[in-house]
Amino acid sequence: MKKVKILLSAFVVIAALQSCKEKSDLEEVVATPEPQKEQAAPLGNPDDVKAEGGPFQVAKLGYKYDALAPNIDAKTMEIHYSKHYKKYTDELNKAVKGTPLESKTIEDILKTLDPENKAVRNNGGGYYNHTFFWEIMGPNAGGAPKGAIAEAINKDFGSYEAFKTQFAEAATKQFGSGWAWLVVDPSGKLVIGSTPNQDNPLMPNTGVAGKPVLALDVWEHAYYLNYQNKRPDYITAFFNVINWDAVAKKYDAALVK
Ligand SMILES: [Fe+2]
Repeated sequence: MKKVKILLSAFVVIAALQSCKEKSDLEEVVATPEPQKEQAAPLGNPDDVKAEGGPFQVAKLGYKYDALAPNIDAKTMEIHYSKHYKKYTDELNKAVKGTPLESKTIEDILKTLDPENKAVRNNGGGYYNHTFFWEIMGPNAGGAPKGAIAEAINKDFGSYEAFKTQFAEAATKQFGSGWAWLVVDPSGKLVIGSTPNQDNPLMPNTGVAGKPVLALDVWEHAYYLNYQNKRPDYITAFFNVINWDAVAKKYDAALVK
C-alpha cells in the first residue's frame, strides 16, 4: 500500500511538472515578439521650414501637412513643401545674389525674364508657382465657387462643370512635368492653359498669357506617393481642396488694371 502511495505521489509530481512545462512552452510561444513594423516618421511642422538666406522667404503654408488629406496626403505635402519648395527658394536666392534682380519682386523678375537664364527661369518659376499653389488650396474647401468668380466662370465656360472638365483636360494633357492654369487674359476673360516645367503665365511667350487665379501642379512629386501614375485621380481630388475664397481674391485683384 505504501508503495502504491509513493507511486501515486510520483505520478502527481511528474504530471504537475509536465503541465508547468507545457504552460511554459505555451507562454514562450505567446511571448514570441512579432516582427517590428516600420514606424512612420512623425510629420514636421511647416512653420519650421526656412530659406537659407537671401531676399526670398518660403511663404507660410497656412495649414498643417495633413490638412488636405485624403485628397493630398500628408507625406506628399511635407516633402513638397519642406524639400522641393525650399529648394526652389534657396536656388532662386543663389541665382539672384549680386545681380539687379536681387531687389525686384518675383512678379517683376518673371515678367522681364530672360528665358535663357535657366537658373532664374526654373527656380523663380518654381518659387512663384508653389507659393501660389499653397495659397489657393485649403482644408474644408472645394465645392463650387460663389460670387463674381462663379459668374465669370459661367460666362466664359458655360458652367462650373464645363470649366472643371476643361481644366482637368488641360492638367491631364500637359505632357510630363508642368502646371495647369486659370488666368484672366489681357481682355479680362478667363482662360485655361498649361505650361511645361516651372514656366508660368507671367513669363513672356509661354502660350498662356494673363494673371493667374488658379494653378495645379502636375509634377509627379505632387501626387506620385499616393496616386502613382493615376494623375487624373489626383486632378479630380484637387477640386476638393480648392480654396475659392483665395481664388476670388486673386480674381478681383486681376481685374484691377
Ligand atoms: Fe511641385
